[in-house]
Amino acid sequence: MSDFNVEKIREDFPGLSRIVNGHKISFLDSGASSQTPTQVIVEMNDIYNTHYANVHRGVYTTAQEISDQFENSRKTIANFINAKSEKEIIFTRNATESINLIARTWGDANINSGDVILLTQLEHHSNIVPWQQLAQRKGAIIKWVPIDSQARLDLSNLDELLKGVKIFAFTAASNVTGTITPVKTLVDLTKKAGAISIIDACQLVPHEKIDTQSLGADFIAFSGHKMLGPTGLGVLWGKQELLETMPPFLGGGSMISDVTLDGYSPADLPAKFEAGTPAFVEAVGTARAVKYLEDVGFDNIVEHEKKLGNYALEMFEDRFKDSVIVYGPKTMEDRLAVFSFSVKGIHPHDVSQLLDEYGVCVRAGHHCAKPLMRELSADGQKGIGATSRASVYLYNNEEDINSLGKALEQAIAFFC
Ligand SMILES: Cc1ncc(COP(=O)(O)O)c(C=O)c1O
Repeated sequence: MSDFNVEKIREDFPGLSRIVNGHKISFLDSGASSQTPTQVIVEMNDIYNTHYANVHRGVYTTAQEISDQFENSRKTIANFINAKSEKEIIFTRNATESINLIARTWGDANINSGDVILLTQLEHHSNIVPWQQLAQRKGAIIKWVPIDSQARLDLSNLDELLKGVKIFAFTAASNVTGTITPVKTLVDLTKKAGAISIIDACQLVPHEKIDTQSLGADFIAFSGHKMLGPTGLGVLWGKQELLETMPPFLGGGSMISDVTLDGYSPADLPAKFEAGTPAFVEAVGTARAVKYLEDVGFDNIVEHEKKLGNYALEMFEDRFKDSVIVYGPKTMEDRLAVFSFSVKGIHPHDVSQLLDEYGVCVRAGHHCAKPLMRELSADGQKGIGATSRASVYLYNNEEDINSLGKALEQAIAFFC
């Protein structure tokens, strides 16, 4: 941690020097999309300025340069998550598309009427709806792992729930409550039950290192825009032996080895799953973001965010015990610094708008997790419609949390 200097890091993020409504911005919405460091912007601009051309199509110098850079980005991302081969890295548009790809290919080829798909109540709609659609197409059944009072997974009945399951798809960390799930245990139990494990790692990958080989899962989905990268780039990691057996997802250019008037044959991995022009500038940007995160060091990031998370939890407890309900685990042990909260008597949208007057950016709504919203309780009553959410990343500091506290006090004074 000795070389971790948050003020120095903040200098790399142009978006953090903005003044909003007369106040220095406090950006606490990285759970939706993170800010972009200058290093990533420069790398992407450099492509547009000096060597922009489509990939995998031309043999002229510029086309070869950008094709190499694109494929090197795949290698960087493969190394980042310790994939066995870069063939296991499929570029998609976002994590949502990555999960849909599995449902439409592995799912359509392997799920039959009466089969069981297991999900958890913590899931984002991106890891629910594709499975509901698959279940509808095939007549499969969806079962749910419940949560406890602190929005952690209740695993007391997991052995029973896993019986006869074909797919267990679960989040590594909740975008609403910050709950970190016991990923390795879940993967091991899934394997023992003879099912495949699919991890929605959208919220965890920006904050903690994932090692695909020691984890032993079957598929992992995440996206660049939550980890300092640009929008438009999702990643699907899958075990090569599974990806090899799966039919292609979208059809078109790049994903074929041959096309005749009678049909087509698919290309080898990873091209088989990357129809059309890929988001190659964004892939390079995401690889640069990975390098940025690795240079800072994930141990430093975890330590900084845990510290800031504790600072925020103490603030909620000390100053807002009677006026604010914070959902999720009570300590930073098994959670990220992602805080969904309700201010008693004020609608989350009004909270968000009032905080914005002080330059504090928090998200309000159901956070694409409506089933989870129905499970959370406020003042003994089960089911909430929406929350406000403050989410912390490596560039946030205590001043951001102080600004949140000050703005919350103003909002409460205004409304109550
Ligand atoms: C846990 C989780 N899963 C999936 C998604 C969807 O990610 P994307 O918008 O990149 O498809 C999000 C986005 O907020 C998320 O937080």
